Amino acid sequence: MCGIVGYLGSREAYPILIKGLHRLEYRGYDSAGIALINKSLELSVYKTKGKVEDLENYVSGKDVGGTIGIAHTRWATHGEPNSQNAHPHYSQSGRLALIHNGIIENYKVIKEELISKGYTFSSDTDTEVLIQLIEYMQISHNTNLFDAVQLALKNVIGAYAIAIIDKSNPNQLIAARKGSPLIIGVGDKETEFLIGSDATPIVEYTNKVIYLEEEEIAIMHRDGSITVKNLSNVEQTPIIKTLEMNLSQLEKANFPHFMLKEIFEQPEALRTSMLGRLNMESKTVRLSGIIDHRDKFLKANRIIICACGTSWHAGLIGKYIIEELTRIPVEVEYSSEFRYRNPVIKSNDIVIAISQSGETADTLAAIKLAKENGAFIYGICNVVGSSIARAADTGSYLHVGPEIGVASTKAFTAQVTTLTLIALNIAEEKKTLSKERTAELVEELQRIPEKINETLQMNTRIKLYSQIFTYAKNFIYLGRGYNYPVALEGALKLKEISYIHAEGYPAAEMKHGPIALIDEEMPVVVIAPKRGMYEKVLSNIQEVKARKGKIISIVTKGDTTVKELSDFCLEIPDTEECFVPILSVVPLQLLSYHIAIAKGRNVDQPRNLAKSVTVE
Ligand code: G6P
Repeated sequence: MCGIVGYLGSREAYPILIKGLHRLEYRGYDSAGIALINKSLELSVYKTKGKVEDLENYVSGKDVGGTIGIAHTRWATHGEPNSQNAHPHYSQSGRLALIHNGIIENYKVIKEELISKGYTFSSDTDTEVLIQLIEYMQISHNTNLFDAVQLALKNVIGAYAIAIIDKSNPNQLIAARKGSPLIIGVGDKETEFLIGSDATPIVEYTNKVIYLEEEEIAIMHRDGSITVKNLSNVEQTPIIKTLEMNLSQLEKANFPHFMLKEIFEQPEALRTSMLGRLNMESKTVRLSGIIDHRDKFLKANRIIICACGTSWHAGLIGKYIIEELTRIPVEVEYSSEFRYRNPVIKSNDIVIAISQSGETADTLAAIKLAKENGAFIYGICNVVGSSIARAADTGSYLHVGPEIGVASTKAFTAQVTTLTLIALNIAEEKKTLSKERTAELVEELQRIPEKINETLQMNTRIKLYSQIFTYAKNFIYLGRGYNYPVALEGALKLKEISYIHAEGYPAAEMKHGPIALIDEEMPVVVIAPKRGMYEKVLSNIQEVKARKGKIISIVTKGDTTVKELSDFCLEIPDTEECFVPILSVVPLQLLSYHIAIAKGRNVDQPRNLAKSVTVE
């Protein structure tokens, strides 16, 4: 949520910053802004409501010179999205400019105090309070900017990733973080620095990065030197790491949208995700996160899965498979609920935190709470080096490459696959599954990418069906067992990008309420594979049919019974019951994509949403 990019070096900053903003736009896109210091030491701040493209139009013809600058794309938290509230924000004197991700919780108290000292504010944001406070600290303590930032940050409560420039010193760029990620790219030219709220604006210029740690402040100088200190003024040694990302992963290739590209990437993404983890000779699974902590898993009393959004849906499927294969009880928690109620956490509990971004604030807080109470934390993240990955005791990365589309697709199927690997590996250690059965499941898991490929062949047909359903105001998604979470995920995908109201329900629960909604207008998507509770789902379909609902079914290839009852039918290859979700979700991803396109929606940047939610 919100994107930060900054540059200090010998090149013109503007093109680098604008390109960076485009790459970051998936994180927030209600307003954007840029600040540059030119050769005459003038600080220009340009900002506007809307997208990065609107910012480019706005600055067209204006002075965008300068080799230092910061830029921001916003997802509003405090204050409506307009140009006043957009970042960067100025200090009172007009000397300093700052961009910020996160929330300053005590901004009201600080604002009142600053107003009483004669400060005036031109926006409703918490961010403007922070830059005014920094300037106030600098003046009142008669100190340099770095120390002033340190003093100000000691007085704020909340989360921040910030970058600051000072027109009286165009040779330094200051950045700090707490609770929100910030990465520093050390340019190949050695005397060049880039900063980013994630690696996407940096990767084109360098693969050498420093992940700023909690409560660290960095000062970068034009001569290529960098100093990092924490809030207690203790100097830290920055560790340079190598980025595992390449530029082509950030391009749409020949696809019109990132979401469609990512849906089609799933076969390859899952192959990479399983690489080195499936042993096809011994027909077993090996995850270092489990093997290295074998005892923890053998002694585990309970597994608690914490996640949000799509990751939570993956967690629900994880519960089904872990319980089935390992017999360890699993609870699935919304991180935002878990962290605020007084949950029972014991030292022999294992908490699995699932997060594509690895930055979701509630999930991060949930694992901190669990850790404080002695639980062992296993992270399942996609973004390497992310906060949740670093806070966890161990874990598994998804390795599916960057996911840019706001609606999560390939991360979801990879999360489910990783949870399956975890279940298989624990089952082997605990001997809850026979060797023969393990071998069968491992062999089938290896076939899944090819089966997704087969499923993707329905794309054109799904596109045709989608045109028919643009009229719908509501959708119902039904599934049972392993496919109940898929129904939830299908409904979420549709809501997120087409803005059609949709509800996912366990099929049997339909008669306890949602059945009242069914009439000849209502599309009902039913996931009805031959595996699992097929006969039961069949009765649920009859119930919908009797009320004239429009049935769109997802069935196992060759099934004619459900097909005859359906208005539209999509066939997926047969697979083990526990792997069906990885296939059955694919047509639902495509359905929501094509309905959204047919309705003229911006699928990669749906309204009001952000890719990662780094605020509570
Ligand atoms: C946001 C995104 C969702 C995502 C959720 C959890 O709401 O729009 O797509 O599922 O956050 O994100 P995480 O990065 O923790 O998986």
